[in-house]
Amino acid sequence: MIVVPGSSNRLFAYRLARSLNATYVETEISKFPDGETHIRIPKVDEEAIVLQSLCHNPDKYLMEFLIICDALWGKGCKHITGVLPYLAYARQDSEFTPGEAVSLLGVARVIEKFCDDVITVDMHLHRYKSIDEVFTQGKNVSAAGAVGKYLKKRDLKDPTVIGPDEESEQWARQISAEIGCEWDVFTKERLSPEEIRLMPKAADVGGRDVVIFDDIISTGGTMAEAIRAVKKLGAKRVIAACTHAILAGTAQTKIFDAGAESIIASDTVPSPFSYVSAVPPIVEAITFKRNG
Ligand code: R5P
Repeated sequence: MIVVPGSSNRLFAYRLARSLNATYVETEISKFPDGETHIRIPKVDEEAIVLQSLCHNPDKYLMEFLIICDALWGKGCKHITGVLPYLAYARQDSEFTPGEAVSLLGVARVIEKFCDDVITVDMHLHRYKSIDEVFTQGKNVSAAGAVGKYLKKRDLKDPTVIGPDEESEQWARQISAEIGCEWDVFTKERLSPEEIRLMPKAADVGGRDVVIFDDIISTGGTMAEAIRAVKKLGAKRVIAACTHAILAGTAQTKIFDAGAESIIASDTVPSPFSYVSAVPPIVEAITFKRNG
């Protein structure tokens, strides 16, 4: 088995290959003078994992992914698993205003034409119950357990876990189970891509260390609001944690300005805060599938 990366997250692909005892193939990816993508894959096998996180420059990375898969099929590959640790476009899963494209479904249809099955990590599944409503052969795993295990080793005093919206309950529960503490969630209303309104309940955070966990930190607006809310309620130290640290624009400074002590993220998106690896749950999913 080979693991073939696009250019978005080669380290993740390398870690995955090592954990699976598979061969990591160093793809050569460059641009032609006119901006087209040029890719060379120096080694091919019958079974391949194509690894690409659709972060930061999703359209570019999606194109690389498709070109790599197509090239592998042309070179005799018999089975391709697409591993997309961060799946972009998942938040545009509905026609929120008339005429909008439901990008998630369009992107999913293209991806699954190029590979046999798809694995994602903490895919933003807020309005869908399961990944099965998006991909025919899809598996969504979570990094929240690994984040919880990491946080358990930190010196947290009387900790509690808060999710900034109702959808984050699933992760708040998992993390609190690992740490062995309470959890709660707030209610959120999105006013625009950059603006949200949080309705914090009177969560029991006074004098405690608080972990706020969300699937994605993108502009940092949600996280910063949640930090301010728990601080107002008397929280002591606040740790901002997430699976996908997109950290667009000034997200980092927004979060620290709001009063976070640190940011903890998984490695689905490369960032200076990627202390936790999401490779193990993916390995588990692949191993489970291979063993039937
Ligand atoms: C939305 O429902 C997600 O779970 C995150 O809360 C959201 O994507 C975070 O975005 P931002 O950092 O831009 O507020």
